[in-house]
Amino acid sequence: VRLVVLVSGSGTNLQALIDAAADPATDTPYEIVAVGADRGGIEGLSRAERAGIPTYTCRVKDFATRGEWDAALAEATAAHAPDLVVSAGFMKVVGPGFLARFGGRFLNTHPALLPSFPGAHGVRDALAYGAKVTGCTVHFVDDGVDTGPVIAQRAVEVREEDHTDEGAALHERIKEVERRLLVEVVGRIARDGYTFEGPNRRRVRLGH
Ligand code: GRF
Repeated sequence: VRLVVLVSGSGTNLQALIDAAADPATDTPYEIVAVGADRGGIEGLSRAERAGIPTYTCRVKDFATRGEWDAALAEATAAHAPDLVVSAGFMKVVGPGFLARFGGRFLNTHPALLPSFPGAHGVRDALAYGAKVTGCTVHFVDDGVDTGPVIAQRAVEVREEDHTDEGAALHERIKEVERRLLVEVVGRIARDGYTFEGPNRRRVRLGH
């Protein structure tokens, strides 16, 4: 299965996917064929380069409209013919053009237990609310913000001392769990595809 990963930051989730793919002991039937970003100069891109993975960057400010950016991102992504696209700390909401092409095979990882605390500040919002348990969610991307079908979740307990550093330590504990969950889910979907349950039950198979 051909995988494209989208990043905006440190790329530790990307690194987990790279490491798992290189580890003969893990069952990871995917190949990371490219890494895309919405900004330059980030560690996520350096991680890809060190692993010898092609990269591309589409910056919103280089396009006249958000729609043009979305079309360019879709085009640049499609050029690598992915079966599956993963947003791993990609901090942009894609538009209808991208979803028309990759919907149903576009995953995101989010640092909270959706549908609680969607958006860019899932860790901080859970803390501010006073949640005692939060965690991470891997889900399909739809046209809302963190609203698509949930694939898998893991819980992480909030500690008293998490309130002293604006969620930095909590986010690190979530990310440890999140990286393992993402590798597990991507491996499973690459191997078995995915069945959407509910009234519109359908099965998605990738790269077969
Ligand atoms: C992850 O917690 C992701 O869910 C969130 O940002 C973090 C990205 O971390 N949106 P990294 O870039 O993979 O290290």
